[in-house]
Amino acid sequence: MADATTERNPLPDTSAGTAPGRGRLRGRRVLVVGGGQQVFDAATDPIGNGRATSLLCAREGAGVVVADRLLDSAEATVDAARADAPAGPVAAVRADVCDPGDIGAMVDRAAELLGGLDGVVYNVGIGVGALDLAGVDPAEWDRTFAVNVRGAALTARAAFPRMTSGGAMVLLSSVAAVRPSSRLVAYGASKAALAGLQPYLVTEGAATGIRVNTVMPGLVDTPNGRAAGAGRPDRAATAIPLGRMATGWDIGYAALFLLSDESAYVTGQTLTVDGGRTSV
Ligand SMILES: NC(=O)c1ccc[n+]([C@@H]2O[C@H](COP(=O)([O-])OP(=O)(O)OC[C@H]3O[C@@H](n4cnc5c(N)ncnc54)[C@H](O)[C@@H]3O)[C@@H](O)[C@H]2O)c1
Repeated sequence: MADATTERNPLPDTSAGTAPGRGRLRGRRVLVVGGGQQVFDAATDPIGNGRATSLLCAREGAGVVVADRLLDSAEATVDAARADAPAGPVAAVRADVCDPGDIGAMVDRAAELLGGLDGVVYNVGIGVGALDLAGVDPAEWDRTFAVNVRGAALTARAAFPRMTSGGAMVLLSSVAAVRPSSRLVAYGASKAALAGLQPYLVTEGAATGIRVNTVMPGLVDTPNGRAAGAGRPDRAATAIPLGRMATGWDIGYAALFLLSDESAYVTGQTLTVDGGRTSV
């Protein structure tokens, strides 16, 4: 069985995500919110979900705006996307989704830079705080919900009027929404709340031809996922039927499908990408 900890995917990735684009998002305009990634060791960090999604969108022919609280990291994504797909317009925008004003400005700027919007990926997600109820801190709980849930709702509210019929929004959940294995109480509850939010977005979006779906990753070997897993044998890849963690590419490809016309009749669904972990 493969050991995920031996499968390092530094950027640029040489073991995954190397398939050439096939124009699956040709002419589309995509905003990836949280398209940077946390930096621990730039030399060895694997690729994150938002960066992989941004690169795949650019490679498949989309114009991409990468928004993040960390402007440097969003710019690193843009640099990588330019190298990957020099034809597509790509740009970075700084935005903190805790701030509703930032969200409005981010969507306005993305639509202005791209000449409209067809796709939005809400990749931002934080998992701070206690591993059990006793350690729950109300301020951390509120911040987790503001970033993971309220930010998604406000991004949809700002973006839907800018999006064309046939557009798509993708939310990033986690198997922590359905299994308490992450042991991050507020994180799991906030990801579960996205499942409650999604039907409302589906209904409002469908009125103007916008689809809304969710990608639900299991354990992913992103910089953040690797840090969260340090010293946690319960997060071992051996508990995963496919025998390895996901890479950011695995998650990006799922988001790509849900953004593309290949999923034109799919809305309100959750695509679990966990190597079979929650199926057994
Ligand atoms: N890595 C995993 O094991 C895993 C598992 C399940 C789900 N997920 C989900 O996938 C998504 C991405 O995960 P990742 O591991 O690549 O994480 P990541 O932290 O590297 O990426 C998230 C990005 O969001 C940005 N961000 C954080 N707070 C923000 C804010 N207030 N405003 C704007 N940007 C902000 C970060 O700077 C970062 O660039 C998250 O939603 C996460 O919950 C990850």
